Amino acid sequence: MKLAVVGGGSTYTPELIDGFARLRDTLPVSELVLIDPAAERLELIGGLARRIFARQGHPGRITTTSDLDAGVEGADAVLIQLRVGGQAARLRDETWPLECGCVGQETTGAGGLAKALRTVPVVLDIAERVRRASPDAWIIDFTNPVGIVTRALLRAGHKAVGLCNVAIGFQRKFAALLDLAPADIHLDHVGLNHLTWELGVRRGGPDGEDLLPRLLDGHAEAIAADIRLPRAVLDRLGVVPSYYLRYFYAHDEVVRELAAKPSRAAEVAAMERELLALYGDPALDEKPALLARRGGAFYSEAAVDLAAALLGDGNGGGPAVQVVNTLNNGTLPFLPDDAVVEVQARVDGSGPRPLAVPALDPLYAGLIAHVTAYEDLALDAALRGGRERVFRALLAHPLVGQTDRAEGLADRLLAHNKEHLPWA
Ligand code: G6P
Ligand code: MN
Repeated sequence: MKLAVVGGGSTYTPELIDGFARLRDTLPVSELVLIDPAAERLELIGGLARRIFARQGHPGRITTTSDLDAGVEGADAVLIQLRVGGQAARLRDETWPLECGCVGQETTGAGGLAKALRTVPVVLDIAERVRRASPDAWIIDFTNPVGIVTRALLRAGHKAVGLCNVAIGFQRKFAALLDLAPADIHLDHVGLNHLTWELGVRRGGPDGEDLLPRLLDGHAEAIAADIRLPRAVLDRLGVVPSYYLRYFYAHDEVVRELAAKPSRAAEVAAMERELLALYGDPALDEKPALLARRGGAFYSEAAVDLAAALLGDGNGGGPAVQVVNTLNNGTLPFLPDDAVVEVQARVDGSGPRPLAVPALDPLYAGLIAHVTAYEDLALDAALRGGRERVFRALLAHPLVGQTDRAEGLADRLLAHNKEHLPWA
């Protein structure tokens, strides 16, 4: 089995390699190609990746290249994990929205729109080249904003699935709190990427006993601390929102907080410098502990599970039911069929098929519908450009919603992203 990773020079890659190495029985990778335009960094990461495979006795071959077309040739699956403009662009996304009183975050609100505009054309170009070189390959998209990017890929007819680690993170957390194995925890996970709620926590599988009431009885404090919302929110809702809901439920508080402290981009940039220095040590042959301080914990395991289910022969492979980003197709009946939702789906070689979702409380359905409309307009702006489309997407976003704010944000978004947006 051949896998290619676009953005293989990311400091995150050792996390992925560690997952491939540990879970090689689930996903037998014989060839792994790391692809990245940053040749020097790629060599550094490639060297460490080979040492991790060697230490764990993984027989797979790891190669590196900056030639995308050659790298994806013959791949069974291509993982796309890139950040157009790097942490420098992320720093801007996190900063200028604050000047308008809005949250500065790389995937939510105006910053997330900027990231979508920079990213969609790049990922679509890569996907087109993947389709030419390997028409049957699955594309697994980790590139944020995952909902909008996946929607762009699916609209263009690509064989793509979007993936995020929020669900697997909750699964691991809840399993530890309940003293169960992660595989015994099944989440009733509903929403859009970075806008989800856990409506149930089931034992064993989709039809298992719902342990959520017990979990909230015994561990509400720990979960509230994890998602950084007051415990009262959990008590009242009786479900677990992801920590990205904090940007909605506690928006103004977050704006004040962000204005008063260094940005996450700056923190991550410092960590990346440290990580790269560690990766250069020829004695290092495992993923360093520092990597655990990045937000992407467990993403390698989600990737292995998904690739195994998509590429498996049906005899084994990853768990059949996983949380993915895929076409709505009636799953949430109040959304268009071509919206991308983040839900549990049965996954096999023909792709994901979402499980049925019970009727949603308007408290969640309303926000999901609102953000879906924003995502639609955001994709339109990303595909066709133009300040008016940017303005419309911003005005549609529940965290913006006022014309003067949308104007101020549109001006700043365009001014800060000129080098990445040829039409701006
Ligand atoms: C979580 C999200 C990812 C995001 C990451 C950021 O894992 O699910 O989509 O990219 O956090 O982590 P960072 O360490 O870069 O802040
Ligand atoms: Mn994510």
